[in-house]
Amino acid sequence: MQNARKISEDIWWLGASDRRIELFENVYPVPNGISYNNYLIMDEKTCLMDGVDDSVTGQFLENLEHVLNGRKLDYMVVQHMEPDHCSAIPQLVAKYPELKIVTSAQALKMINQFYRFDPTDRTIIVKEGSSLKLGKHELSFVCAPMVHWPEVLMSFDTATGTLFSADAFGAFGAIDGNLFADEVDWERDWADESRRYYVNIVGKYGVQVNAVLKKAAGLDIKMICPLHAHVWRKDFDKLLSRYSKWASYEPEVRSVAVFYGSIYGNTANAADILASKLAEKGVRNIKVFDSSKTDISEMVSRAFQYSTLVFASATYNAEVFDRMHYLLIDLKNHNLANRTVGLIENGTWAPMAAGLMQRQLETMKNMNVIEPIVRIKSGVSDENLAQLEELAEKLAESLK
Ligand SMILES: Cc1cc2nc3c(=O)[nH]c(=O)nc-3n(C[C@H](O)[C@H](O)[C@H](O)COP(=O)(O)O)c2cc1C
Ligand SMILES: [Fe+2]
Ligand SMILES: [Fe+2]
Repeated sequence: MQNARKISEDIWWLGASDRRIELFENVYPVPNGISYNNYLIMDEKTCLMDGVDDSVTGQFLENLEHVLNGRKLDYMVVQHMEPDHCSAIPQLVAKYPELKIVTSAQALKMINQFYRFDPTDRTIIVKEGSSLKLGKHELSFVCAPMVHWPEVLMSFDTATGTLFSADAFGAFGAIDGNLFADEVDWERDWADESRRYYVNIVGKYGVQVNAVLKKAAGLDIKMICPLHAHVWRKDFDKLLSRYSKWASYEPEVRSVAVFYGSIYGNTANAADILASKLAEKGVRNIKVFDSSKTDISEMVSRAFQYSTLVFASATYNAEVFDRMHYLLIDLKNHNLANRTVGLIENGTWAPMAAGLMQRQLETMKNMNVIEPIVRIKSGVSDENLAQLEELAEKLAESLK
């Protein structure tokens, strides 16, 4: 049975949620599932904005048929060619023989690469500034390279002020009936997952995201329709300002996030001692993460959120302990910059973790390591306690 939703005069949401999925992109845990949204504009011409993932294609095709209600599908805009929004292209082309695909030249090539058929003779190529008239509605296309793939287009319906924003402004998490962001307690239930989504998916491309935000600022936006999570019909400033912070690698929270890697618990102890000392010095909203238990995508998201980061690691086979090593690589891969950093290392015979972590931090921009580096030999000593006190003092000072 269909589950299509009318979101404005002629525009329908046709998406579906997948709650069975464990890992989005086979890497990011999605305990609350994920939604794949797409939209249908019912004007003189009918126009589908993107497709969905394989996992929900059956539901989507039912929704589409229901809303079309016997009409043919004239256009499908392919804003980017990532398979989580394109799985049904071959089926749609077979089902609607007159369907024209509207996409960028680069995406057209990718259609052939993925599906081994060449839709050139039924494709309308568009680029920045191109438009497509559907009747009352007219789509104007905006290039958004690397938000999330190189060929990304966003589409702005000038008649209604609806921005079809592709992957931008999405979040992890299934849609639980309430399709609009203003119908849920978004700050409480969605803000963290929207950051984890952004940071891990496009966090690396801050420069490109800022370029698109500039273009968006020039549009009279009334509604934002992303390919994942909620439709937005107000609070655009809140949404855009979060994106602008992340894209500029500016923290949202001036406080300390501590990440530790500990085999037997001594490094963890030092991390907790530091956190307590910070709290006693008035620092609020401190977070401590055991890197062996917390998914890297969550830690990367928190590192984008917090101004001040502490990395504490045991030495493990002359390396940084396991997931702390990968956390630092991932932070570098996402271009994290502009943070104040504290370091704690541990080792029993040849401690090396601090030096190795420092080297990883040097590959990132503007990561300011605060002295002293706390060097533990096995268990926390009196001397270490004094170092932790001094580090806490300096970190607290840096937050003032
Ligand atoms: C497999 C393995 C490899 C280790 N490699 C090193 C090493 O290269 N250098 C070192 O000083 N300690 C090494 N250690 C010892 C731990 O780093 C050390 O005991 C540390 O105090 C553990 O801190 P924790 O209590 O936070 O786990 C190794 C431990 C294990 C289990
Ligand atoms: Fe994507
Ligand atoms: Fe996507």
